[in-house]
Amino acid sequence: MIISKHADSPAYNFYGNTDTGLTLRWGETMEANPLRAPWPELADISISNHCTKGCAFCYRNSSDDGSFMTLKDYETVLAALTHPRYGSVFQVALGGGEPLEHPRFYDLLQTTKDRGIVANFTTNGEHMDRALANKLEGLVGAVALSIHTMSDYLAHKARLLMEAGIKVNVHFVLDKESLPEAIALLNGKYNELLAGINAVIFLTYKPKGRAVRNDCLSISDERFNKFVHSIDHNECDMRIGFDACFVPVLLRRTTVDADYIDSCECGFFSVYIDEKMNVSPCSFANDQRFRFNLRRYTLHEIWNEQFAGYRLMMLGNPCADKTCANAAHCRGKCYYYEQLSFCHRSA
Ligand SMILES: C[S@@+](CC[C@H](N)C(=O)[O-])C[C@H]1O[C@@H](n2cnc3c(N)ncnc32)[C@H](O)[C@@H]1O
Repeated sequence: MIISKHADSPAYNFYGNTDTGLTLRWGETMEANPLRAPWPELADISISNHCTKGCAFCYRNSSDDGSFMTLKDYETVLAALTHPRYGSVFQVALGGGEPLEHPRFYDLLQTTKDRGIVANFTTNGEHMDRALANKLEGLVGAVALSIHTMSDYLAHKARLLMEAGIKVNVHFVLDKESLPEAIALLNGKYNELLAGINAVIFLTYKPKGRAVRNDCLSISDERFNKFVHSIDHNECDMRIGFDACFVPVLLRRTTVDADYIDSCECGFFSVYIDEKMNVSPCSFANDQRFRFNLRRYTLHEIWNEQFAGYRLMMLGNPCADKTCANAAHCRGKCYYYEQLSFCHRSA
């Protein structure tokens, strides 16, 4: 199904293909970039804070006594994400907690599909088996398997998903500890192990929740610079991608075409909703200034009124490096974490 949206002005246009996952966005001309969407294109929804794995670096501090979003609340959220004129979000990224531990997970996926929204989810993969993988066919756009070291990669689980015709990505948390394996991955060392994977997405380690160790990437670490250098020369068979926090590095220090890089989309094109129906621009926000509950506000109020201050704050956070050729494309370093500033050394 093709979804094509036009705002009331020609300054925002969106095209999305739910079969292929391809999305395009443009402004008055194909070259122009809209500042924000009149309605979010993507919602990152945490459907629980329940997870039995207990990763030491979990930014959500999820545990085996964490709570679940009910199916009813999830339906309320999807209804709230549907605008009378602009329609619904194009896709949802479901996380948690561990999605496969949600007792109504398949009902959540089905109700998402019934609304014409693409559902993607991330999982630690531990509960995946052939029956679960087969049930996912036709219900999801893609599944991401999360890893922190290559030994976390459950190749047999990935294979079950691929055999069921599901597109599989790997989400690789990038911190000081995982850098050597990340460099080896870019150098092609794991091509055989990762055969069939659509893309490896590197997620910048955020110091939140249980991730309190000083494991953030650092520009003073030569291994980090080696990793950045390897991006342009990578020998991966699969595609590679990065989360928004890495964008300043890509723009400043690689030859990746700026037209293919989206600056941080949080609060401008995407929104985060937690299992208690709190809406924030970003899942990693470390304060509650721009957090609004859907029981109290409509999404229209949150998106168009309450987030206005957030956007002003973000736009007033420009990069200090005036020498960067791509400064115009960049929204500067992460507003929330001073530590996630590693595209250049300050003078
Ligand atoms: C919190 S998990 C929840 C979903 C699911 N349990 C999983 O393992 O994918 C969502 C994503 O956040 C990533 N993540 C967890 N802690 C992180 C941190 N401190 N910094 C960056 N990413 C993190 C995980 O690797 C995963 O891809």
